[in-house]
Amino acid sequence: HMEAPERNIMTGVEREATRARGAAPGFKVAILGAAGGIGQPLSLLMKMSPLVSTLHLYDVFNTPGVVADLSHTNTSAVVRGFLGNDQLGPALDGMDLVIIPAGVPRKPGMTRDDLFNINAGIVRTLIEGVAKHCPRAIINIISNPVNSTVPIAAEVLKKAGVYDPKRLFGVTTLDVVRANTFVADVIGVDPKMVDVPVLGGHAGITILPILSQATPKFTFTDKEVAYLTNRIQNGGTEVVEAKKGAGSATLSMAYAAAKFAESCLRALQGESGIVECAYVDCEVTELPFFATKVRIGRSGIEEIYPLGPLNAHEREGLEKLKPELHESIQKGVKFVQNPP
Ligand code: NAD
Ligand code: LMR
Repeated sequence: HMEAPERNIMTGVEREATRARGAAPGFKVAILGAAGGIGQPLSLLMKMSPLVSTLHLYDVFNTPGVVADLSHTNTSAVVRGFLGNDQLGPALDGMDLVIIPAGVPRKPGMTRDDLFNINAGIVRTLIEGVAKHCPRAIINIISNPVNSTVPIAAEVLKKAGVYDPKRLFGVTTLDVVRANTFVADVIGVDPKMVDVPVLGGHAGITILPILSQATPKFTFTDKEVAYLTNRIQNGGTEVVEAKKGAGSATLSMAYAAAKFAESCLRALQGESGIVECAYVDCEVTELPFFATKVRIGRSGIEEIYPLGPLNAHEREGLEKLKPELHESIQKGVKFVQNPP
């Protein structure tokens, strides 16, 4: 395109400088895997966020196109594209928050663990970049299998000597988003009114919805509990099957990821009382990682909430999920400690 007349143009650098002078606050956010099914709508949602001043989009494919497109939206965040491994460093330099939806999605008939062989290596490489270029950033991991990719990230960060468990999150917000939606349908209220904690992990039976702690309080019949538990645990598979080989949840995931990222940024900005479910390094069970409610603040996790009261059905689900979650965690740890 034709060069714009120099003095009419406010370049990205100038816009950033204006913000840095206090014109508007804002954080630097990188999305790794930004050209993908989740990455593109997530990039759009983050570009709309008033909390974001700089948005770095990294992928091994198509980032220049996505950036050209997104940069025409008249929101103040500056967008820059980074393509391929050589540009991973500059994509990450100085970032406050790094969101990672890079990797292959499921096709019908696959489990999330079937993605391990490809996605484990992708996450390892990307986290090595984070360890080197922005070790203090908050990290949001979306790439599946989350039950294993978060332990992989932790091991990589430990190896690099920069692991801060308070800053590493496996994103399980989509499970909460689904639970809220499905429960709202059953009890007949606006989904905005509903909050259901979902604990455990992010695959099949490791997804443990705690309907007994749902807000608003509601007494579900056994049939409703069975229906809701099954639908929440298999929400991902429902989408994979509907898409018939064209991928897995992208729009609802981008929505959930943006919601979780906004919570992280609001917390970084100093807002108090930010509580989310996430898959984190914690001691709420004997397992080293577990999705539970956490309070997030300026330095990441500030408080980890216990599981809270569970009914007999939920306690049974909890015991059932532990062996599978344990195995997925060990698989991730081993991948870094004794690489295949
Ligand atoms: P997609 O294939 O549409 O997009 C993935 C993107 O990652 C592509 O643009 C690809 O080029 C990029 N990529 C591949 N290797 C990369 C690398 N080394 N560095 C940077 N980018 C790289 O897939 P999608 O639908 O966006 O899903 C992405 C991942 O998110 C999958 O693993 C999927 O299972 C997972 N997912 C997780 C949740 C969750 O709740 N946590 C929900 C939905 C999907
Ligand atoms: C989801 O829950 O939608 C994601 O984990 C994608 C998948 O494979 O189901």
